[in-house]
Amino acid sequence: MKFFIDTANLDQIKEAKDLGILDGVTTNPSLMAKEGIVGQDNILKHYAKICELVEGDVSAEVISTDFDGMVKEGKILATIAPNIVVKVPIIKEGVKAISWFTKNDIKTNCTLVFSVGQALIAAKAGATYLSPFIGRVDDTNWDGVQLISDIADLYQMQGFMTEILAASIRNSKHIVDAGLAGADVVTCPLSSITGLLKHPLTDIGLEKFLSDHRKANAGA
Ligand code: G3P
Repeated sequence: MKFFIDTANLDQIKEAKDLGILDGVTTNPSLMAKEGIVGQDNILKHYAKICELVEGDVSAEVISTDFDGMVKEGKILATIAPNIVVKVPIIKEGVKAISWFTKNDIKTNCTLVFSVGQALIAAKAGATYLSPFIGRVDDTNWDGVQLISDIADLYQMQGFMTEILAASIRNSKHIVDAGLAGADVVTCPLSSITGLLKHPLTDIGLEKFLSDHRKANAGA
């Protein structure tokens, strides 16, 4: 399973990279705005900085909602670096754009996915990645992890190559559950990644090892 970090914050990307487990980055317009990155030039420069930091795929989202606009933006984004993935919403024009990018060897991440039907049409269009938003599904009192599982079953049954990228991860359990449900990739806030490390018995056990060592070696 690949680990992506879901942020446009360069310090957090570096911190995740230093763990040695980072496979890529996803961003979206809200995450860019959160970092105060505004204006097309600054946005493109920021994507370039992220692409220099990580070798893996970096998703950069289009703002246009029409086919021509998405293709125009996607072409510009794709020139930033070879690891750019053009992120496109699952709307009718988006499906047309994903088909176009696929035919023109530009990688895509189909975003804002909330149903198996949307996952099916995105895979038919040849999306490289599919981003079901599991946290937002849970917020509506449905089951985001079950959505991942259903999409994984469909893709396996039908032989689709689109990678399932579980997004809108809200906690560390989501990461484990998405993996068990068949996600190929998880994109998470740094806190959910580091949260995987936490267990009270690890802390207690480590403290005991260290105190036993200190006692045994006192004066040695
Ligand atoms: O990048 C898309 C997705 O991960 C958004 O997550 O927490 O805003 O629902 P969230």
